[in-house]
Amino acid sequence: MPIISISKLSKTYTSGFTALRDIDLAIERGEIFALLGPNGAGKSTLINIVCGIVTPSSGTVLVDGHDIASAYRAARRAIGLVPQELTTDAFETVVNTVSFSRGLFGLTPNPAHIERILRALSLWDKRNSRLMTLSGGMKRRVLIAKALSHEPRVLFLDEPTAGVDVELRQDMWRLVRDLRQQGVTVILTTHYIEEAEEMADRIGVIRRGEIILVEEKAALMRKLGRKQLTLHLQKPITAVPPDLSDYELAVAGDGSELVYTYDTRAERTGITGLLTGLAAAGIRFNDLHTEQSSLEDIFVGLVREERAQA
Ligand SMILES: Nc1ncnc2c1ncn2[C@@H]1O[C@H](COP(=O)(O)OP(=O)(O)O)[C@@H](O)[C@H]1O
Ligand SMILES: [Mg+2]
Repeated sequence: MPIISISKLSKTYTSGFTALRDIDLAIERGEIFALLGPNGAGKSTLINIVCGIVTPSSGTVLVDGHDIASAYRAARRAIGLVPQELTTDAFETVVNTVSFSRGLFGLTPNPAHIERILRALSLWDKRNSRLMTLSGGMKRRVLIAKALSHEPRVLFLDEPTAGVDVELRQDMWRLVRDLRQQGVTVILTTHYIEEAEEMADRIGVIRRGEIILVEEKAALMRKLGRKQLTLHLQKPITAVPPDLSDYELAVAGDGSELVYTYDTRAERTGITGLLTGLAAAGIRFNDLHTEQSSLEDIFVGLVREERAQA
């Protein structure tokens, strides 16, 4: 059974704006799942519904088998949420606010656990500082500590690295990997492709309230960046010349086309060498064109939306 099962989930805000349409998504136990999409795609809406902060218009969400509507407390107890916005009670101390969070879930105090997370987040020295005296980065660390205070099985990180310094980003990634080692499922949202690529086991792409793709990261990255170059030949050929066997070539269009598949992310595409080889083999062409995978189109589109909003 997946740790989170979302089915037919939709959300229309009271403004009339539909932020999510018919989302189906299963998150597996112990994975790091990145929800990738441009600003306004619906990432926070989705997370906030699962965490009980936003009410869905329709659909169901199960967290570790508990329905968030009919068994809210049990569902919520399994979850730690690090929200996108910073919100903290200014006058409380670090250790009190984190311990208090644990208490909210009805758990008995566990100072050893609180100490462990404060140390892991480099907050131990600041444990008696009031929150209002902390920098933005330190406040974010406190939010993470609060989210982990009740030993959740699932941790949601909503845009965890937007606007944080390099040191915190690295600490955060280390923490996420440690949590996974302990069997915690981590779901993070981001609008950086690089971040999803770096961290996730699986990536889901959300755009305008719809999940348009869910795939293992490794498979996704293999498909990304693949491009095809098609050469329209002056004279048809029946086979790839043996001298060009090092290239990923295929004969198409009844011998009138030669198709070269290459990786745009590689240090060299091989196109220069291929064209030299073709000339040496006496193969001439009238025309050529390139095509990228539909996946690449999706990502190029996402990056463009992101830039337009930046
Ligand atoms: N409370 C709200 N009322 C109306 N519209 C909202 C509300 N919250 C978010 N939205 C809209 O829903 C869309 C998705 O927002 P959000 O889930 O925050 O996206 P993301 O986290 O991917 O940037 C946006 O167009 C946003 O303006
Ligand atoms: Mg958001």
